[in-house]
Amino acid sequence: MAAITNARLMRPGRERQILRMTDTHPALARARAFCDRLGLRVPILLAPMAGACPPSLSIAVANAGGLGACSALLMARDSILRWAADFRGGGSGAFQLNLWVPDPAPKRDAAHEAELRAFLAHWGPEPPPEAGDATPPDFGAQCEAVLEAAPPIVSSVMGLYPPAFVARLKARNILWFANVSTVAEARAAEAAGADVIVAQGMEAGGHRGCFDAASAERQMVGLFALLPAVVDTVRLPVVATGGIADGRGVAAALLLGASAAQIGTGFLRCPEAQIHPAWADALAGTPPEGTLVSRVFSGRAGRSIATDYVRAATSASTPRPAPYPVQRGLTAALRTAAGKAGDIQRMQAWAGQSAALARPDPAGMLVQRLWQDAAATLLGGA
Ligand SMILES: Cc1cc2nc3c(=O)[nH]c(=O)nc-3n(C[C@H](O)[C@H](O)[C@H](O)COP(=O)(O)O)c2cc1C
Repeated sequence: MAAITNARLMRPGRERQILRMTDTHPALARARAFCDRLGLRVPILLAPMAGACPPSLSIAVANAGGLGACSALLMARDSILRWAADFRGGGSGAFQLNLWVPDPAPKRDAAHEAELRAFLAHWGPEPPPEAGDATPPDFGAQCEAVLEAAPPIVSSVMGLYPPAFVARLKARNILWFANVSTVAEARAAEAAGADVIVAQGMEAGGHRGCFDAASAERQMVGLFALLPAVVDTVRLPVVATGGIADGRGVAAALLLGASAAQIGTGFLRCPEAQIHPAWADALAGTPPEGTLVSRVFSGRAGRSIATDYVRAATSASTPRPAPYPVQRGLTAALRTAAGKAGDIQRMQAWAGQSAALARPDPAGMLVQRLWQDAAATLLGGA
């Protein structure tokens, strides 16, 4: 019962009411079962967010009863182990470590990259010829580091883990949360041994987790369609993510069959997220139609604020972005310069479609309000 009736979250009357309702309300009962399995008090998960998931944010979410998260995309062994140690030093909650399953090596095109470098030179320092050579940390070494860090949960995005790694997770009782963005991907993840499916609607901020990079823009499924379809397809618990940023969204996700809600952009304005103030401020004024899915920062499709740079880089007259991770390397100098200048129009400002709902509150307080509002909505405003 602890999952739903945390006395710190609920006023005494509300707590008793929810206590009575959990046995008869299927959405709350499902969330409670999920929380009990993971040792959570509330069915709110921080989304793994590369570059925006310092331990402080996860500690605050986990200490409030939710699940912490770290995307290790850009982290080598020592950083992964340090993150886990720092998290464990701040509390006793649970967390997930997240890895990107790598794409095949990109096809390079020197002439095209030269055109892109010339375009990017209008927006920031001219990228050096070797800028596109930048590669992410070695995936195999990251997998070893994740096993060494021994989190209770490991999540995947952009594909499925190799069977041998899945077997090693299972041997250690580490749960595998697989991010999917289509029903077919959910089916494949279940067949590959995932323990939980994270269904990512196209509203989501940051990169789309499509297994096939090429299909990211063609298969844009909104969470209201994706979630019930995935719930009806797999026998596993399903976590909903994408565009959820307040109690109404959490309640809707649970009603549509989710066992929990995973939130990214909604936590970005919390002080513990420590993102650039210009980015945090811009989120507040970004309506759903003010974001855009493009490949202009990394070469993989991702949703960001539709800034001047994003609009220019997606215009028909601009060379198309290079594949991941070449484009990430090419835009590195621009991203650094924009951050130093505090220039939101050139910054890599990832944002989901519910960006304007993000609140600048401490993350623990936000978790409490999300769950309190969701529970009140589910119980008919009681
Ligand atoms: C800044 C940022 C970085 C992200 N990085 C990752 C990542 O490294 N791995 C991953 O699985 N998802 C990543 N995501 C996607 C989130 O895990 C999640 O799907 C998304 O935030 C949900 O949509 P919302 O932002 O509308 O809540 C990122 C999202 C954001 C906003």
